[in-house]
Amino acid sequence: MSKPGVSGNESQNTGILKEIIETNITRKLIPKGLSWLGCMGGLSLLAFLIQLGTGIFLMFYFIPSPNEAAASFQRVSHSVPYGWLIQRIHSVGPHIMIGMVFSHMLRIYFKGIYRHPRELHWVSGANLLILTLLMYYTGSFLKANTAAELSKFQLTCFYTLHIAGIPLAMMLFMGMHFFMVRKTGIYEQL
Ligand code: HEM
Repeated sequence: MSKPGVSGNESQNTGILKEIIETNITRKLIPKGLSWLGCMGGLSLLAFLIQLGTGIFLMFYFIPSPNEAAASFQRVSHSVPYGWLIQRIHSVGPHIMIGMVFSHMLRIYFKGIYRHPRELHWVSGANLLILTLLMYYTGSFLKANTAAELSKFQLTCFYTLHIAGIPLAMMLFMGMHFFMVRKTGIYEQL
């Protein structure tokens, strides 16, 4: 019976949603043999999403101009609520993400998981590694002291690549990566 004030359709939809969440998330058990190294692919994705979220937040305040970049940095860390924390996460995150992507790749390499039928997982993954490093490289020019030394054109180029070009390419290769993983299933079943 549906709750008073809630139509039959609505309570049926809530039931379906609850069922989906329970079967896929809350009732799922962590497999016994799961190792930290085996989680590095998923953790790399999580690190990417954290960088994306904190980066979008910083975009609202950062001014990509050699004369104003440093002042906009100061504003985020001193005047915006939790701005200092988000800035800190966005600058420490890449080091952790690079470590995770490398560990993920090394596990795949030493276990020989790149072999047939997983060649395209490896190729899309290798592109993701290069793009992750390029994100780090372009981001390093957007720091307060380095931004001031660039010309307006250089800073605009690095900024556009950092906030649009490289992230979009990463999403494209991630789509390919996850599609391929979905197609073959993972090597060591959970
Ligand atoms: C941003 C970077 C990356 C993300 C977010 C990512 C994410 C993932 C995820 C979530 C999986 C499925 C679960 C797992 O096996 O861990 C996976 C599998 C895989 N990844 Fe990555 N990956 C990245 C980079 C790389 C790199 C650099 C390589 C190698 C050059 C690579 C090669 C593979 C391969 C071969 C598989 C299939 C593993 C299997 O079948 O068990 N990935 N990746």
